[in-house]
Amino acid sequence: MKEKLESIRAAALAALDGAQSENAVEELRVRYLGRKGELTAVLRGMRDVSPEERPAMGALVNRIKEEVEAAIGETLANARAAERSQRVASERIDVTIPGRRPLLGRSHPLTQVTAELVDAFVGLGFSLAEGPEIEDDYHNFEALNFPPDHPARDMQDTLFVEGERVMRTHTSPVQIRVMESQQPPLRAIAVGATYRHDSDATHSPMFHQIEGFMVDRGITFAHLKGVLTHAVRAVFGERSAVRLRPSFFPFTEPSAELDIGCFGCGGSGGACRICKGTGWIEVLGSGMIDPNVFRAVGYDPEEYSGFAFGIGIERIAMLKYEIDDIRRFFANDLRFLSQF
Ligand code: DAH
Repeated sequence: MKEKLESIRAAALAALDGAQSENAVEELRVRYLGRKGELTAVLRGMRDVSPEERPAMGALVNRIKEEVEAAIGETLANARAAERSQRVASERIDVTIPGRRPLLGRSHPLTQVTAELVDAFVGLGFSLAEGPEIEDDYHNFEALNFPPDHPARDMQDTLFVEGERVMRTHTSPVQIRVMESQQPPLRAIAVGATYRHDSDATHSPMFHQIEGFMVDRGITFAHLKGVLTHAVRAVFGERSAVRLRPSFFPFTEPSAELDIGCFGCGGSGGACRICKGTGWIEVLGSGMIDPNVFRAVGYDPEEYSGFAFGIGIERIAMLKYEIDDIRRFFANDLRFLSQF
């Protein structure tokens, strides 16, 4: 029995010596000290030992048991410490590594130009109006004094959709929708996408306009000139030269296009690429609202007058930032967009 105890002791201590983890130590504890463990079995066998040998044997079993327990405690503490320092090492964070800077977004050049124009008009008391991008022929053309089969419809390369509808070719139908539902005095602008069957370096099938109009008693061409000069100078600078040049639109009479003095050559023309030598750059269309438009919405043209205008936002942004191809606005190329 003594030899057996000694060999259990030696085996237990050797096994504990090689145990690396908490789990391994727990397995050994069960194997030697558990209810069915090897030392426990020996203790149970004590009743077969002769009464003379019993005290010495009992003392020996207890001593070995205590020894193994102590070894387990120590090995367990070591295994825990080792596991902990391993985990600390693997989860180590180097707080001195410089952080990665998040990319800062910025607003699209078209959004920037739009905001400048909208701010200028809102500052003059204009409110914001909206209309559908899919329009009916009546609002896009007829009420704007484009008679059916009139050649003026060819000015706009219309995209047709089902059910006698069109993709609005301009934001001017919003004028009609606002005047149909409200009475003068009115001062409103409408910003939005417009569509034409047209595509090259300066034309996109989808582009944006700002429409604006003002209706009241006694509105004159001088109001038109004052409001538009203010808005254009907000975008191109307070010192920009401005001129109004006679033009034609079905929904205005008289009509005028507004030009600014070329900022490329300072108005001198010559071989300037931007104004093609004319010294002037066209930036918008405008005019006094045609009496036929007032009749279409039920306003009395003898009582009310007003002016209207339409601005191509891409065109303004291309001029302002000297961008040569309209498609750049829609290509989502960060090398382009991050310059604004
Ligand atoms: N709707 C015109 C276009 O798309 C622009 C325009 C010109 C709008 C004169 C107006 C205006 O309101 O009075 O080209």
